[in-house]
Amino acid sequence: MLFDTHAHYDAQQFDPDREATLAGLPERGVSLVVNPGCDIPSSEAAVELAGRFPFLYAAVGFHPENCADYEPAQLEAIQALAKKPKVVAIGEIGLDYYWEENPPREHQQRVFRDQLALADELDLPVIVHDRDAHADSLEAVRQFPRVRGVFHCFSGSAEMARELVKLGWMLSFTGVLTYRNARRAVEAAGAVPIERLMIETDSPYMAPVPHRGVRNDSGYVRYVCEKLAEIKGIPYDECARITLENGKRFFCIA
Ligand code: NI
Repeated sequence: MLFDTHAHYDAQQFDPDREATLAGLPERGVSLVVNPGCDIPSSEAAVELAGRFPFLYAAVGFHPENCADYEPAQLEAIQALAKKPKVVAIGEIGLDYYWEENPPREHQQRVFRDQLALADELDLPVIVHDRDAHADSLEAVRQFPRVRGVFHCFSGSAEMARELVKLGWMLSFTGVLTYRNARRAVEAAGAVPIERLMIETDSPYMAPVPHRGVRNDSGYVRYVCEKLAEIKGIPYDECARITLENGKRFFCIA
């Protein structure tokens, strides 16, 4: 069985068939999913979905692309949501310098640090989104040495991967690992022990080969597992088992 550690079932792409898609996951080999929030409404939706599907867990937080209107007072709402049943992390939080229309970098950094401080206070792990912001993301997490987390859809170098592992962090990889131009991600995955790796889909985005370009869902996490097993030179079943155990340990899921 597989653990998809990052999927957005509150996204509108699932409006036509959300219930059916989620209900069908166990028979497609998926036994656990974490659904991170991107702002307050989507975090609420993640918590609500987690309440209805036994294998689904939630994370709550402000995504860097969705934090334009953030004010520190809103942290209270995230804090209250973080205490709901089946909320296992603060996320997804981080920095995204890729899109020019994103909120200003200083604002993103403030929102990121406020949420790292909240995770520290609540003793919860964090799910970090870092796109084209490697140095600043690393610097921010270094400022919170008690906070542990995962860099999701990891896109940094092998050197950065080793550095994060040294700091006690995890990395997770999406379908990007299966893309023809994924040399960097493949190198990073190869550079760190499998005990520090998790797999994810980032559904509805990032569908792996051979489904690249279509709407993604957790059933396709097996392609990520297949590719990671190949990179690590281990059997598929062993890769599935280890990444499942890693995710359960990291998110404290019994
Ligand atoms: Ni995401």
